[in-house]
Amino acid sequence: MKKINIVTVAAALAVVIALSLSAHAQGASDLFKSKCAMCHGADGTGSPTGKKMGAHDFTAAEVQKMSDAELTDVITNGKNKMKPSTGLKPEDVKGLVAHIRTLKK
Ligand code: HEC
Repeated sequence: MKKINIVTVAAALAVVIALSLSAHAQGASDLFKSKCAMCHGADGTGSPTGKKMGAHDFTAAEVQKMSDAELTDVITNGKNKMKPSTGLKPEDVKGLVAHIRTLKK
C-alpha cells in the first residue's frame, strides 16, 4: 500500500511540475504581448511605431545572433529609444529572451 502511495505522490508532483513549466512559458508570451508587442509586434517583426523608432526584426539573424547576455541587457536596461519596461523580474527577462529565441525564422 505504501509503495502505491509514493507512486501516486510522484505522479502528482510530475503533473504539478509540468503545469507550472507550461504556465511559465505562457507567461513569457503574454508578457511579450502586453509589454513589447506595441513596438516589436506580436510576431517580433516590429510594429509600424517600433520600426519608426529603429527596432529590428526579431526573426532575422541580426537579432538572433545577439547573445542571451546582450538580449538580457537590452531588455533590462533599454537601448536608445527603447526604455526598459517597469516591473520585470529577472526570471521575466529570462522568459522574454527564451521567447525571442522561439521567434527565429
Ligand atoms: C516603446 C517601444 C518599445 C517597447 C515597448 C519595447 N521595445 Fe525593445 N526596442 C525598441 C527599439 C526602438 C529598439 C532598437 C534600439 C536601438 O537599437 O536603437 C529596441 C530593441 C530591442 C532589442 C534589441 C534588438 C533590436 O531590435 O535592436 C530587444 C531584444 C528588445 N528591444 C526587446 C524588447 C522586449 C523584450 C520588450 C518588452 C519587455 C521591449 N523590447 C519593449 C522599442 C521598444
